[in-house]
Amino acid sequence: MNYSHDREKKRHQRKKVYIETHGCQMNVSDSERVATRLEQTGYQVVGSDNEAEIVLINTCSVRERAEQKLFNRVGELSDKKRRAEKPLIGVLGCVAQLEGENLFGKTSNIDFVLGTRAVGRIGEMLDGINLKDEKNVDLDEREGNYDWTVADQYRSSDYVAFVPIIEGCNKFCTYCIVPFSRGREQSLPPIQILDQLRGLKEAGVKEVHLIGQNVNSYRPKTDAGLEGFRGATPFSRLLRAAAETGIERIKFTTSFPRDFHPDIVSAINECENLCNWVHLPVQSGSDRILRAMRRGHTSADYLKKVEAIQNSSRQISLTTDIIVGFPGETDVDFRETIELYEKCRFDSAYLFKYSPRPGTPSARLDDSVSAQIKRERFLVLESVQKRIQEEKSREYIGKTVRVLAESFSAKSQDDLSGHTTCHKVVNFEADKTKLGQIIEVFITDAKVNSLRGRIAS
Ligand code: 5AD
Ligand code: SF4
Repeated sequence: MNYSHDREKKRHQRKKVYIETHGCQMNVSDSERVATRLEQTGYQVVGSDNEAEIVLINTCSVRERAEQKLFNRVGELSDKKRRAEKPLIGVLGCVAQLEGENLFGKTSNIDFVLGTRAVGRIGEMLDGINLKDEKNVDLDEREGNYDWTVADQYRSSDYVAFVPIIEGCNKFCTYCIVPFSRGREQSLPPIQILDQLRGLKEAGVKEVHLIGQNVNSYRPKTDAGLEGFRGATPFSRLLRAAAETGIERIKFTTSFPRDFHPDIVSAINECENLCNWVHLPVQSGSDRILRAMRRGHTSADYLKKVEAIQNSSRQISLTTDIIVGFPGETDVDFRETIELYEKCRFDSAYLFKYSPRPGTPSARLDDSVSAQIKRERFLVLESVQKRIQEEKSREYIGKTVRVLAESFSAKSQDDLSGHTTCHKVVNFEADKTKLGQIIEVFITDAKVNSLRGRIAS
């Protein structure tokens, strides 16, 4: 089908679409492809909802508040006092997949719903809406010829690109909605991933993030593309193959502890362009809670993986996710989480208060830890996290690091901002001609969440 056909474009008169994205990198990546697809189909993707005739909200449902955000936004967009005409509103992403047509019952302002694997049919959905003027839902599987590429102008950054390598999740941790919203694990063919990497390198992209709920559970149906690459698991073979494309930096996230093979560390040791950063969510330091979460690992198992990472010949930074206040979590359990945190000395962590998600096994348990205790534990853990993060950041002072200059800093147009190979944020004085370059920066100061420096002479 030729979507850039003139007649198609004329029919839509280049209707303006605004895409709003909540949640994780997978959603950001899906939105990039939706934008690409819309432009090919003859729509115009715009940067603000004010001028848009169609608004797509790509949603997240990992925690309760994320879902509430959707209803708030739909309310705002439909508020007659704010805008003369209500745009056509489409819901995409995880809430769309989970709720399907129930969403129409929750608010009359939603016009269509497109599930997580149906995003490639956005053009068809909009055509259907235009023709029939009725509510539509598509929660079906991905079409066989789904195009995973993103047009250069729709990547969120000119220099950093997200490349999905596996979608879905089979782990069914008891608190988590993702296996329901994103379906079973499906690995993308290695050839297709490697072709994308080569294309991105050609386009001037400096850093690629291989993304997926559990990247190290990567298990493609075919080996094609990985011939000749060593590795104890398909993922570590993919890493070595990805490194050989010569793209300057490769990061990957998220890793699942049980499937984290030490050969991943060997691959990082061998290949300079595989970055020295591992994001390895632990969730809790208590074996009792880990069992109740059905994580498939104990804290000792986790520490063994961390030991392999910390014994690397390169200094690999380690980040994690932790949930406080899981049903039944006692003070003793929580203390074990703090102890594990102190042992691992994470470079950073995303901390969450447990939030029951309807439909998950743990939602049937009594949400026994009060909001007050959850808050207290969160704050205690956050203070540990900040202290360790700051201590580790201060170790960079006086050192020179290589930073990809990605954008202007949030505070000043005289500063640029970017990441190190180990994914630390660095702000430094430089003009815009340096954007997109990898620059040696001498670190002069450390804040909790970022480093500051100047171009090394
Ligand atoms: N409540 C709180 N945090 C959650 N996460 C996933 N599900 C929940 C939930 N029900 C967190 C986990 C996961 C991260 C992406 O979100 O820590 O690693
Ligand atoms: Fe959720 Fe567990 Fe799958 Fe991560 S591994 S997406 S926490 S079910």
